[in-house]
Amino acid sequence: MNTFSNRVIKWHGKSGRKDLPWQIDKNPYKVWISEVMLQQTQVNTAMPYFNAFMERFPNIGILADSSIDDVLSYWSGLGYYARGRNIHKTACILKNDYSSSLPCSLIELESLPGIGRSTAGAIYSLGFNKSAPILDGNVKRVLSRHKRINGILKKTATINKLWKISEELLPSKNHEIYTQGIMDLGATVCTRSNPNCSLCPVEQDCLARIHDEATLLPNRGPSKKKKEKEVFWLIPKDENDNVYLEKREEKGIWGGLWSFIESDGEEELNKIFKIKFRSNKSSIKKYKEIEHSFSHYDLKAKVFIVSLKGKPTTKTNTESIWTNSKELQSIGTPKPIQKLITEMSQHG
Ligand code: ADE
Repeated sequence: MNTFSNRVIKWHGKSGRKDLPWQIDKNPYKVWISEVMLQQTQVNTAMPYFNAFMERFPNIGILADSSIDDVLSYWSGLGYYARGRNIHKTACILKNDYSSSLPCSLIELESLPGIGRSTAGAIYSLGFNKSAPILDGNVKRVLSRHKRINGILKKTATINKLWKISEELLPSKNHEIYTQGIMDLGATVCTRSNPNCSLCPVEQDCLARIHDEATLLPNRGPSKKKKEKEVFWLIPKDENDNVYLEKREEKGIWGGLWSFIESDGEEELNKIFKIKFRSNKSSIKKYKEIEHSFSHYDLKAKVFIVSLKGKPTTKTNTESIWTNSKELQSIGTPKPIQKLITEMSQHG
């Protein structure tokens, strides 16, 4: 039997993906941006974001010289905004310390913000055609099935075992093709719930397949119910559908993005409104409730509106703007916020 890596490489030649946007005129910069986008986002969702990002920031120098707001506006809707903030930080480091290029060194890649061991391995192998293991979600699934690793996936011991396997299976050449091949195998054949084992090039010696356990692996451990978080949002709006947004602090899930006034109670929301808008009367009205799911909790937002005459100046320590659905593209806003503003402009 041919080696694991040779079978994956051969399979990639016939069935792997070769015309994804980041594979065309490939360079380490495109590989870096695409790998970060693909850390928590599906290929089909990431593609239009990647194309727009490359058009606006065609190289590291331009990216480093752009404002973080500009970068985040191109990340708007992709989620996990720390990725966008880290990309900007890394671009500045690359401009200052690496002549605006990515270092061809696994250790140096891994030292950069937002680049973990697997992303460093992907950039090193896909971007420089050098030998490095990767262990993203797809590869974890392929390897834990092939070697029938049944330890709970998030345990360090299991992850260490999988890294070791990933290292041991590396080919001696065709590093780039192998890395892309094993990723594609996980994404298109060795899928989470319906693996298509008959199309798999490494089926013959796949221990999960032999023991009929493919869909039982990897072992994700007992499923925990997600936490719920309730917040109250206030949308001040003027007669022309302009809405008032504030920039969130740099930390947290939507750090640095433009969002509504938020509090953890309706009364508190009223108070904040009165202080910020120097108003005694408050006619905030319940608009609707929305739900939004994050990886670690479900957010329930009770949304209130207050209709104002004109755009009063406010008393606040936070950066604020008045904007509308047409201008929204140019600033970084979370998806549910975008959706609410667009919806309000359509329904009045
Ligand atoms: N997921 C992560 N990296 C990928 C890549 N280079 N191609 C396709 N899917 C991926």
